[in-house]
Amino acid sequence: MALSLADAALLRSQNLIDHQWRDAGLGRRLPVTDPATGETFASVADSDAGDARLAVDAAAAAFLAWSRRPARERAQLIKRWHALILAHQDDLARIISTEQGKPMHEARGEVLYGASYVEWFAEEATRICGDIVAEAVPGRKLLVLKEPVGVVAAITPWNFPLAMIARKIAPALAAGCTVVAKPAEDTPLTALALAWLAQQAGIPAGVLNMVTASREHTPGVVDAWLADSRVRKITFTGSTPVGKHLARESAATLKKLSLELGGNAPFIVFDDADLDAAVDGLVASKFRNGGQTCVCPNRVYVHDAVHDAFVGRLAQRVGALHVGPATEEGAQIGPMINARAVDKIARHVEDAVARGARVVTGGKRVRTADGPHYYAPTVLVDATPAMELSCEETFGPVAPIFRFRDEAEVIRDANDTPFGLAAYFYSNDIRRIWRVAQALETGMVGINEGAIAAEAAPFGGVKESGYGREGSRHGLDDYMHTKYLCQGQLG
Ligand code: SIN
Repeated sequence: MALSLADAALLRSQNLIDHQWRDAGLGRRLPVTDPATGETFASVADSDAGDARLAVDAAAAAFLAWSRRPARERAQLIKRWHALILAHQDDLARIISTEQGKPMHEARGEVLYGASYVEWFAEEATRICGDIVAEAVPGRKLLVLKEPVGVVAAITPWNFPLAMIARKIAPALAAGCTVVAKPAEDTPLTALALAWLAQQAGIPAGVLNMVTASREHTPGVVDAWLADSRVRKITFTGSTPVGKHLARESAATLKKLSLELGGNAPFIVFDDADLDAAVDGLVASKFRNGGQTCVCPNRVYVHDAVHDAFVGRLAQRVGALHVGPATEEGAQIGPMINARAVDKIARHVEDAVARGARVVTGGKRVRTADGPHYYAPTVLVDATPAMELSCEETFGPVAPIFRFRDEAEVIRDANDTPFGLAAYFYSNDIRRIWRVAQALETGMVGINEGAIAAEAAPFGGVKESGYGREGSRHGLDDYMHTKYLCQGQLG
């Protein structure tokens, strides 16, 4: 496969450290593969702890000057970065689609989505404010300042190669922090292209550094950052086991943490819901990126009274989704990220069927002319809590339907998980809407809405889905300390 771009300079294959594009110290390379076939089409640096430390050296050296730069100047540079992202949106979408397998129309959407965070935080940079507190003792002034935490390590996943890293780097830079970043091993090219654009925008040397590493060598890079007391914050999006590891290992240097971890989102359709709207919402949120998102519904609860009508309409829509190569215009479900991902989906469906679920549509692997890593969009009915797909994220295009009969029962089942990222429900009863929204144990709730993420909203979870928020004014706070000044002898 060849990746042809209007601006070939976007295709980077080295680390960015202290404004220089450099090979990994040991000269190792990481192949970048086509998710549909597993074939290599590019390669990037496969870094180790030495490269990771060099990146921190650069970020630590750049911190003082960057953090003291007037907020408006930081904002202008971030805005320039935003403008360059928009100017290169077609190329960026092509890179995302090629390395991640995201259908082109969704990849274009991801560029705009990621860019919206960059613009938002450029604007928020100029609104950082503290407080002056009423003093209890005469002759004293109590002031509260917001200060950047220092060097931030950003570690990001493959499922949104642009948006996830953009919404970590942008608030960090806006707050006055400097950054060392490591994108996922499956999708390094989009992140490197973003770093290139940041450099072209004039973000100064050392302020943004990026290293790439294979699955095998990632622990070396991350451990170097965990052990380094100059790294004051880790921001991570990925699995709950890795999030827990980062929390444990960063305890030695007590770093600030933002963890956006796994989910197991319930999607509830009450008997008073608008069924067409609920089908639209479920298709949008469940089948976006082929079901490879942390916030996508993993368990769909449908009230007994509307179950058959809902399933009939849903199956018709899902059965018509077009599976095909991601870069082909018109594809709605692209390849899964790799063979392991397709195996997991197939295992979940086999387990569900063995335990009594029935396949209404899909339920099988698909081989396109392009390669073997595809799975048919699937609807299952008669799902139960005993099935693997009820407890674990499937991360694929499978909607299992659970039948329920009353509100208390469905709330109990929806909350019966260690995870608490997102939940969705459809109802037209205003009293129920407030009751259910408050009862759901998640960081985010979609009410009669399947697409909930936005740059102006706080994205994040509770329970074992992590802590910290991305987007909104809360997203900037996560990159700042609160400092209190007490000035006396004023009376
Ligand atoms: C995720 O769930 O993996 C991120 C999705 C989003 O930002 O909408």
